[in-house]
Amino acid sequence: MKIVLLGPPGAGKGTQAKSISNKYSIPHISTGDIFRKNISENTPLGLEARKYIDNGQLVPDEVTINMVKDRLSQEDCKQGYLLDGFPRTVQQAEALQTFLSERGEKLDTALLIEVPRDFILERMTGRRVCPGCGASYHIKFNPPTNSGKCDLCGDNVIQRKDDTEETVMERLNVYEAQTQPLIDFYKERNMLSAVDGTKAINKVFESICAILGSAN
Ligand code: AP5
Ligand code: ZN
Repeated sequence: MKIVLLGPPGAGKGTQAKSISNKYSIPHISTGDIFRKNISENTPLGLEARKYIDNGQLVPDEVTINMVKDRLSQEDCKQGYLLDGFPRTVQQAEALQTFLSERGEKLDTALLIEVPRDFILERMTGRRVCPGCGASYHIKFNPPTNSGKCDLCGDNVIQRKDDTEETVMERLNVYEAQTQPLIDFYKERNMLSAVDGTKAINKVFESICAILGSAN
């Protein structure tokens, strides 16, 4: 199964991606996570990406597209994958279509998690993430059970640098200008499905499973 997850910052893409990846046994590929790993390891890619991420801007298409193509060419992607945070521009979406058609493959669906702008700020500023395993929490909606420690690996959870109010506003503007056009891109190709992302986390997951079916 090959899935693209779409939605604004804070829609719950990362949260749902973890559950989808478990249930359907497909790798969760988050471009944001790959960039953050490179930033924490001070790689050349990380140093380049940081200039954009810290300001809420997109990393240039060329860098991102090559990185994703490399990742999708790996062995564990043969049976499918879940892309979270890619594509984010029409150029990236076109590059993905070309990559797939060159291999005689296609996407199963582009799944949009719809959340209006009003919900986003509270979600983002309350988010805490685990630097160890990438798990995502929320101080109000989904707190770790053992206060301040990740349920999965026990690391201390932290706030992402780009989750300040100012940067979130910029990320929302960038989303509306550059990523929202992908909704029409996939709609025109009859590939779009959508769920209401304002519901509770488990309800959103139920809606997603109803769309993806009981495959695998
Ligand atoms: P990325 O890491 O992809 O950030 P994003 O798209 O802005 O998405 P987020 O991770 O912020 O939100 P999410 O939808 O995953 O929400 P989450 O599940 O955590 O990208 C970061 C940066 O990297 C970009 O700004 C860009 O610079 C760069 N980048 C990445 N990909 C790129 C690309 N393709 N091209 C160029 N640049 C790229 O949930 C948010 C919070 O809400 C959490 O606290 C969670 O617990 C809570 N929550 C989730 N669901 C619910 C619910 N249903 N009810 C209540 N709370 C909920
Ligand atoms: Zn963890």
